[in-house]
Amino acid sequence: MAETVSVSQPTRVLPLELDRRYPVLVKGEGVWVEDDTGRRYLDAMSGGSMAATIGHGRHDIVAAARAQAEQLAYVHNERLTNPAQERLAHELAGLAPEGFTRVRFVTGGAEANEMAIQLARRYHVDRGEPGRWQVISPAQAYHGPTMATLALTGRPGLQRPFQPYMPSHPHIPPSTWRFDPTGQQALDALDRALDATGPETVSAYFCEPISAAALPAYTPPARFWEGLAERRERHGFLIVFDEIVTGIGRTGRWFAAESLPLVPDIIAVAKGLGAGYAAIGAVLCRQHVYDAIASGSRAFTLGHTWDGAPLSCAVGLAVLEVLRSEGLVEHVRERGPRLRDQLAEALKDVPLVHEVRGHGFLLGVEYVDPTDGVSFLPPELGTAGRVDAVALEHGLVILSTMPTRDGYSGDQSLFAPAFIASDAELGEMVERFAAAVRQVAGEVAARLIKPVAGS
Ligand SMILES: Cc1ncc(COP(=O)(O)O)c(C=O)c1O
Repeated sequence: MAETVSVSQPTRVLPLELDRRYPVLVKGEGVWVEDDTGRRYLDAMSGGSMAATIGHGRHDIVAAARAQAEQLAYVHNERLTNPAQERLAHELAGLAPEGFTRVRFVTGGAEANEMAIQLARRYHVDRGEPGRWQVISPAQAYHGPTMATLALTGRPGLQRPFQPYMPSHPHIPPSTWRFDPTGQQALDALDRALDATGPETVSAYFCEPISAAALPAYTPPARFWEGLAERRERHGFLIVFDEIVTGIGRTGRWFAAESLPLVPDIIAVAKGLGAGYAAIGAVLCRQHVYDAIASGSRAFTLGHTWDGAPLSCAVGLAVLEVLRSEGLVEHVRERGPRLRDQLAEALKDVPLVHEVRGHGFLLGVEYVDPTDGVSFLPPELGTAGRVDAVALEHGLVILSTMPTRDGYSGDQSLFAPAFIASDAELGEMVERFAAAVRQVAGEVAARLIKPVAGS
């Protein structure tokens, strides 16, 4: 059988999936990456994880990192600070929705979410409500691989076999077209969760404002957000937005929170802040959260060795400068709807495709069983995995997920290119993606649609 991608030899790296072939990527420029055989791929996933928002191989970011490293690469932020950290905090607060005045740095998405959980808890404890610790969150979500962040999803497929380490937080179902198009059932589920756990024990409602891999480009209807804001008012919990993917421009706004009818209390960001050039994340909060700590314990000290390090903060500053000077967030806002239309047009007569969703450069394609146009696809077909493998054969990096067994979502693909992709590159990505989906749709139909006897 002909090899279509090079194979990483199982020598030194602790493998993630033993049966997967990993192309070995050695070079990147813009939205192109190259493997160790010289084969080039179009990267429609911003480095695979949606982090590389301004493209690969940017000399301006490398120069900024180098200049900072020569000056002062590292100091710990528990007892020391540095100008890059202070400036980045100031700039982030300036870009965040009104009222977000305080920033704390970490080194990644899960860490930012864990710190957000701790910050919400600290807020309540310092205000004299130590009984508040429960976090309610949507079941169909992803917030990271650490124990506390895994507990924030309701996806047994991810949690198994780590369940014994996890607190049992309540979850609510998503308000998708399939389960709850108006958002009312999710509000009812939220009320039941509040009643069951006791509203006085709830610290926070924790969610992605616009979902990433777990339900690509999905956001609940306005009615849900408005009902959530009312319940916060009534019961006194905080609202935390996981903007690890959506923060720093991905949806065509600096923060996705700007596009929703409620303001959260805490926001966690990561990927786009370092844009793939540094491991950095941040937690931002509104003044009232800070004030509770300022007039309470006056300390929020737990942290990690690399939090707020000059080198990673200098990269964050350079990334923000690129986004601003090249008008990339505005570009994503304007170009995103057309990209979604291009994708929808390219897939319009494929019965496997139920829906193409999009917010800026965060797009999602949802697949259904073509025999009825509604049901989840049988998991044994491995449709999402096939889309990724066939896309790679077509020279395209894409990411699909298949959480069917968790009940709330079936096979789906993400499409999340870097903001600097040219029109021609976006068009080529769409074309390669549609070709891959069509090929897989043909395979799925051949396996699902049995020929009628005698025909
Ligand atoms: C929405 C969301 N939250 C949190 C995370 C975890 O971030 P990290 O992998 O940087 O820990 C991810 C990672 O993909 C994510 O997509």
